Amino acid sequence: MNEIVVRAGVAEDYEAVSAVFAGAMMFDPSDDDELGKQQFEPERALLATDGAEVVGTTRALTRDLSVPGAVVAAAHVTGVGVRATHRRRGVMSELISRQLREVPEAIAVLWASEPGIYGRFGYGAAAWGTSYEIDLRRVGPPRVELRPGELGVLTADEALKELPPLLRALQERRPGVSGRSDLGWQKHLEDKKDHRDGRIERQILVHRDEAGTLDGYALWRGKMNWEATGPANEVLVEELVALSPAAYTALWQYVLTLDLAATLGYGYAALDEPLQQLVTTPTALNRRVSESLWVRITDVARALGQRQYAVAVDLVFEVADDIIPSNAGRFRLTTDGASVSCEPTDDPADLTLSIRELGAAYLGGRTFAEFAAAGRVTEHTEGALNAASSAFAWPIAPVSLEVF
Ligand SMILES: CC(C)(COP(=O)(O)OP(=O)(O)OC[C@H]1O[C@@H](n2cnc3c(N)ncnc32)[C@H](O)[C@@H]1OP(=O)(O)O)[C@@H](O)C(=O)NCCC(=O)NCCS
Repeated sequence: MNEIVVRAGVAEDYEAVSAVFAGAMMFDPSDDDELGKQQFEPERALLATDGAEVVGTTRALTRDLSVPGAVVAAAHVTGVGVRATHRRRGVMSELISRQLREVPEAIAVLWASEPGIYGRFGYGAAAWGTSYEIDLRRVGPPRVELRPGELGVLTADEALKELPPLLRALQERRPGVSGRSDLGWQKHLEDKKDHRDGRIERQILVHRDEAGTLDGYALWRGKMNWEATGPANEVLVEELVALSPAAYTALWQYVLTLDLAATLGYGYAALDEPLQQLVTTPTALNRRVSESLWVRITDVARALGQRQYAVAVDLVFEVADDIIPSNAGRFRLTTDGASVSCEPTDDPADLTLSIRELGAAYLGGRTFAEFAAAGRVTEHTEGALNAASSAFAWPIAPVSLEVF
């Protein structure tokens, strides 16, 4: 075996990079992946090579992300895979550490295939993903009073033009939501028949308010299913974005009451998903919670300075970071509720923690108090823990709407 060499990608690497990742994740890559290829940012890929063979990869996509009170640049890390022949020899560690030192953004984010992988690199689980497997016969869907506004459907071409502003508006309200470029939207709405798993083509349901302005949409599909006792069709909601309570209830009421349907799956609910307040039997949502978006802060001062805080605070954090030396040390975070500053300091620390806890708390969905109780944050100044927990918390839970 040769020495493993790590290098940046070039455009011609796309097929090899895709093959390594598909092999590692055990999925059958698409024959026609033109949009995936266009999304490949070769200079943002790192490849581990053994001679001429690519044996490990990681990539980053240039996208933005909503964080408390702002939308910021975030390296969207994807395609992490190592050939089984080269596992457990430190290939991933080399790729991920180098990637973290090189990304220009102040934060990197990813979805982990397994929660045990990324904590060692300073990623913290910052958003809980909630999935529903709704029993439609028990759930008791929202009874919508007839309000002004109406539902309609769009073609994919119309959706490409009409839906992007709604996602951007959602980013203004809820942390954890990734922005999509035009190309990202094309890929998101791509609907290849061999990827439908027996379901019908994607349905694009929209809601318009009284003035005719689009204020919500649901992307959904159905699958025919017949049981001994009769029809038991399956509905899958892929995405639902609503900017008003009227749109939210009308869209959910529609998908929850489709004829012949027995179950509805939805994989991207928020921990505080309003649907829980609308149905008569929330347990029939069959809610499961798992980690979704992991955040890794690559530049503490910049990252903490670019989000907003729920209350005014003036605290010194002592941060440990084994991978990025400039992050290790003490930082003073000061905010009066309007302006925010975060600078390195020699002042004594109020709280000590690792970069992992800082990343986990960054989107406002986890508290320092939770980590302190587990011994992962240490309070040196009385009251600092509650102050930091209150400042970082956010009234609306973060949610990541797609696995990228
Ligand atoms: C996960 C994967 C990338 C790890 O690559 P690798 O080169 O074997 O990883 P390394 O040798 O650098 O391992 C570094 C450490 O992570 C640990 N680790 C690796 N994979 C792990 C996993 N799935 N769960 C928990 N720990 C893991 C290793 O045990 C090692 O720990 P140690 O230093 O204490 O011994 C590789 O096994 C793989 O491709 N898996 C399938 C695809 C996948 O899950 N990709 C991630 C997509 S988000």
